[in-house]
Formats: sequence, C-alpha cells, structure tokens
Amino acid sequence: MSVPTEHHRQSAEVRIAVISGSVRKERMAPTIARWVVAAIDDAAVDLIDLAEVTLPDDSLLWPGGGPRSEVADRIAAADGFVFVTPEYNHSYPAALKRLIDWHYGEWRFKPATVVAYGVQGGYAAIEHLRGVLAELGVVTTRRATGLRTPWQFLDDRDRYTPEPELTQGLTASLAELRWWADLLAEARRDRPLPA
Ligand SMILES: Cc1cc2nc3c(=O)[nH]c(=O)nc-3n(C[C@H](O)[C@H](O)[C@H](O)COP(=O)(O)O)c2cc1C
Repeated sequence: MSVPTEHHRQSAEVRIAVISGSVRKERMAPTIARWVVAAIDDAAVDLIDLAEVTLPDDSLLWPGGGPRSEVADRIAAADGFVFVTPEYNHSYPAALKRLIDWHYGEWRFKPATVVAYGVQGGYAAIEHLRGVLAELGVVTTRRATGLRTPWQFLDDRDRYTPEPELTQGLTASLAELRWWADLLAEARRDRPLPA
C-alpha cells in the first residue's frame, strides 16, 4: 500500500476530497488540483492523486464494489468531492472510471463538483462524469469549471494562474459544493434512504 498524499487543513468537520484524475507521467492534473486546494478555505482537504493509488485488478470487481481498495477509507471519510479531470477523447480518463467503479457506498448521497480541462475546456468530460455520478447517487453542482488550455497559464514556478474570473467561478462552485455537503451530511445522518 502506498503512502497517501494528504493535505489536511485546520477546519470545521466538513471534509472535501480533491481527486486528481490523471496518471500520466507529465500530467497537468496535480497543478490544477493545487489551484483547487488553495481555493478551499472552509473544509479539511484530502488530495488524492490517482497516480499514487494502486487499485486491485479489475478481474476482482463485482457490482457495488469488490475487495476494499487502499483509498476506500479516504473516500468514505469525505463529505464531498472535487473531480479534477482532463478530457481524453471527449470523456474523462479510464483511470478515473476505475476509481469510481471500485467504490460504491463510499460515494453515495454525497455532492461533487467537476473541474475539467482540455483544448476546448473539458466540457465533454464534465457531462460524461455527471451521468456516471448520478448513477451513484452523487449530486453534482450546477456550476462546473472548464479550463481551456491551462498549460498556457503557468507562472515561472509552474503554478496555474488563470484570469481572475475563472478563480471566481471555481469559488462559486465550491460554495455550492459546501452547501450540498452540509445538507447531505445531515440527510445521511438523520434521514437515510429507506432500503
Ligand atoms: C489520450 C488523450 C486524449 C486526449 N483527448 C482530448 C480531447 O478529446 N479533448 C481535449 O480537449 N484534449 C484532449 N487531450 C489533450 C489533453 O487535454 C491534454 O493533454 C491534458 O494535458 C491532459 O491532462 P493530463 O496532463 O493531466 O493527463 C487528450 C490527451 C490524451 C493523452
């Protein structure tokens, strides 16, 4: 089991897992994920880099899960998710789909927002993710963040530095995520869906 990259900030009890959805060696995803983490100031943050996660072999998968993965507890502990994803061939990467498929109850009845990027802003990845997440009972925020050619907006320390409007848009979607996170944490506790 690899050592997880965890960024726990001081905060209230709400926990947001930021999932960095690319495993390529020269990937952009952690740069964007750092921009997202910096914008979260009202929750504990756990940054999950897919490139550091080894999932079991898919031959062991069955509906609703399979053997417990090394990140199952971290996903279960989260009250909400930010999926940071590139667009590959008008969808999101297969590695991210595997992470989704390897968990079930850990996702259910929690909110998520999507931060996607690509040559045209990653909107095809965003819309594909929404449908898959709906099947898991994950509510997605109305606002999603689409970043066009983010590799053109890096400073000399490789930090993503977009137009201020994009950071404002991200902040608005994180506020929406937080609203859902509070609401759904209460609902999971006090009004669980009857079996
Ligand atoms: C297999 C593959 C398919 C891609 N398909 C698209 C695409 O459909 N639309 C797009 O905007 N960019 C596409 N790209 C470009 C990616 O958006 C760009 O390479 C990005 O940096 C990938 O994210 P990553 O570096 O975090 O893996 C593709 C890249 C790869 C590797």
